[in-house]
Amino acid sequence: MPIENIPRTIWWEDGKVMLVDQTRLPLVGDILVCNNYKGLCTAIKTLAVRGAPALGVAGALGLALWVTEDSWDIYDHREFLRALDLAAHDITSTRPTAANLFWGVERIRRLARDNQTLPLDELRDLILQEALAMHAEDEERNRAIGANGAELLSEGTMVLTHCNAGSLATAYFGTALGVIFTAHEQGKIERVWVDETRPVLQGSRLTAWELRVADVPSTLITDSMAASVMKAGEVDAVIVGADRIAANGDVANKIGTYGLAVLAHEHGIPFYVAAPTSTVDLTIASGDEIEIELRDPAEVAGVTASGMFEPDSDAATRAFDMLTEKGPYTLPMTRGHQMQITRKGGAYQFDGWFQVAPPGIEIYNPAFDVTPAKYVTAIITECGVARPEYTESLSAYCSGAGGLDELRQR
Ligand code: MRU
Repeated sequence: MPIENIPRTIWWEDGKVMLVDQTRLPLVGDILVCNNYKGLCTAIKTLAVRGAPALGVAGALGLALWVTEDSWDIYDHREFLRALDLAAHDITSTRPTAANLFWGVERIRRLARDNQTLPLDELRDLILQEALAMHAEDEERNRAIGANGAELLSEGTMVLTHCNAGSLATAYFGTALGVIFTAHEQGKIERVWVDETRPVLQGSRLTAWELRVADVPSTLITDSMAASVMKAGEVDAVIVGADRIAANGDVANKIGTYGLAVLAHEHGIPFYVAAPTSTVDLTIASGDEIEIELRDPAEVAGVTASGMFEPDSDAATRAFDMLTEKGPYTLPMTRGHQMQITRKGGAYQFDGWFQVAPPGIEIYNPAFDVTPAKYVTAIITECGVARPEYTESLSAYCSGAGGLDELRQR
């Protein structure tokens, strides 16, 4: 299947935000419909939509949802701006680390302040149009990142990637995977090693799926196997995405990225970060200032699984039909395990969480880590490839409207 088949994860339709529920992919492809911005906030918190650039777009679309809600009853400009700030705060309070979420929300707030003399109906429409433009621009950025990054790779390259920095993590196309998709189209990719990325398995569930759909040769490994494939000479480049990049080039990304960067350094392998300039936060001097999100210990204590099944006998079908006739059925289970069964057409969906660690064990679950700039070979942006010293190279690329002004002037 060609690259055009890679999935979209977020879009605007009939006044609603539509999301592919990433918590259940790849075995269940549910579409979530967000009618209001509070619903979108829940989707962000639960990782139904995730990945820094997708969060930037989601933040803007969340405010678009807020200004187009049916129950709208604000007719005063000052009250409008105050209420917009509160909605913006609700959205940015969902997850702290990805710079893009704050960037997306801030761009809408700035637009509203700069146009506060417009009639409110026009201002509300302007906000919706801006959010839709940001959605479209994200793909434009990712395609440029892909082209810039692919130039760094030669024929026969074996790449290792971590987490999911693919189409699902953006409005479309992906950042690290955008580079890989572009290089693949140029015939340069021999293999992609995909880290499974515990605890939430964005690598095995999302990246492995995207690469399969696009027909890119790929091999799934557990996170702890990366060192030995590097030592075996099977990795020519590591390419990852980023959640926030400090002015000095320190990079926050999915937990485990820092270890990969140290390993790449030890084995003389280039370590590339692919990210739009909207991920770069020039207001912080170094990664020490990045807030790292701590997530639910249950992500580490156990595993979640969702999938579809068809019973293999009429008797089993009758039993599942009975259990699910009034809606989703929650199986009574011991030891904290959870399992819900839902009838879907002629088949059934299961959503489970299974305790793996001993109940009561203390758990530490930071979602991200910070890779010091000294381990980062280059940062691939839509405006070009930044190299050390990052304080100079990043600030040169990151002025203007999130990099797009510069990109279009080329
Ligand atoms: O917790 P997640 O799944 O939102 O974390 C995502 C990552 O760490 C990605 O690598 C990063 O956002 C870059 S996505 C293009």
